[in-house]
Amino acid sequence: MPLARIKATGSYVPRKRLTNLDLEKIVDTSDEWITARTGIKERRIAAPAEACSDLALKAARRALKAGGVKALDLDLIMVATVTPDTFVPSAACVLQSKLGASKAAAFDVNAACSGFIYALSVADSFIKSGRCGNVLVVGAEVLSRVTNWQDRSTCVLFGDGAGAALVGQAPDETGGIISVNIYADGNMGDLLMIPAGGSRMPASQDTLKNNLHYLQMSGNETFKIAVKTLESLVRNTLEASGLTPSDISLFVPHQANLRIIRATAERLGIPMDRVAVNIDRLGNTSAASIPMALDEAVRSGRVKSGDYVLLEAFGGGLTWASALLRW
Ligand code: UT7
Repeated sequence: MPLARIKATGSYVPRKRLTNLDLEKIVDTSDEWITARTGIKERRIAAPAEACSDLALKAARRALKAGGVKALDLDLIMVATVTPDTFVPSAACVLQSKLGASKAAAFDVNAACSGFIYALSVADSFIKSGRCGNVLVVGAEVLSRVTNWQDRSTCVLFGDGAGAALVGQAPDETGGIISVNIYADGNMGDLLMIPAGGSRMPASQDTLKNNLHYLQMSGNETFKIAVKTLESLVRNTLEASGLTPSDISLFVPHQANLRIIRATAERLGIPMDRVAVNIDRLGNTSAASIPMALDEAVRSGRVKSGDYVLLEAFGGGLTWASALLRW
């Protein structure tokens, strides 16, 4: 059976840069602390009029153009995000309208930082089953809107952006999405959450006063679980396909913290020159980080036909996921 494959990619970052020096003026922090603890130097912030679907649209158009596919030929659109324009309609439906992709079904995927790989796994299944020919998978976030700009433990971390992948059938069985693996442990959901604004704690004067609509994270605890989980996730993914870390030409991890990325690469024996990194320039962009890093690698010619590419993510839910691709 032919595999599904990523046929083309696109990405978009908002124009406004927020540097660590800018943050020094907002909260009690320093460029030195942020750089040493996270690897982040700056992040992008969406313009006031830009919402999730606006970022997604620009990334999507670039992916469609690169793939030579018209919006009308899309069968399914998924937007992986925790910051949709609105709860209803979904960002994917707003995007479908903006693209004019009137034949495509559309829905959002909420798996936090693992959202892009979760959505990729859905695309993989729909294509392999023959139900869809062209699927657009977007990771898009405007995390600056759910960031508490008075909380130094989180506001230095996040950024806005979008990445898109056009997924279709591979021409033969030699390349494509070899495996996609998705996991969750809802018992640890409290480690990373936005407490208010849903049906558990609807918006009220009290929730607003207590900053409960902002993202909260137990960073240190999440960090330790991430490092432990990611090493075995990658090893299991490779072993299942009879590969070893040395077979990987490009490792594209979710960009939560440069120390997590380095620790995972080091434990696996993957040299940093085979690791895609954008966290220094973009911060943690949740579901958008992997498709943006992948697009950068593709456009700079870093990925060649026949290369093994490994994607991995860990984030809120908790969720984690991996995908092994042959380009
Ligand atoms: O993407 C989804 C998944 N997310 C992750 O995987 C995130 C994982 N977590 C992290 O990236 C890291 O835990 C952080 C970057 C969030 C924090 O780094 P850390 O090394 O775990 O620091 P910490 O939370 O243990 O804090 C160490 C110290 C504390 O001070 P005391 O108690 O030692 O005096 C914090 O108050 O650093 C302090 N601190 C800061 N200092 C300056 C926390 N934030 C800041 C800050 N500037 N922005």
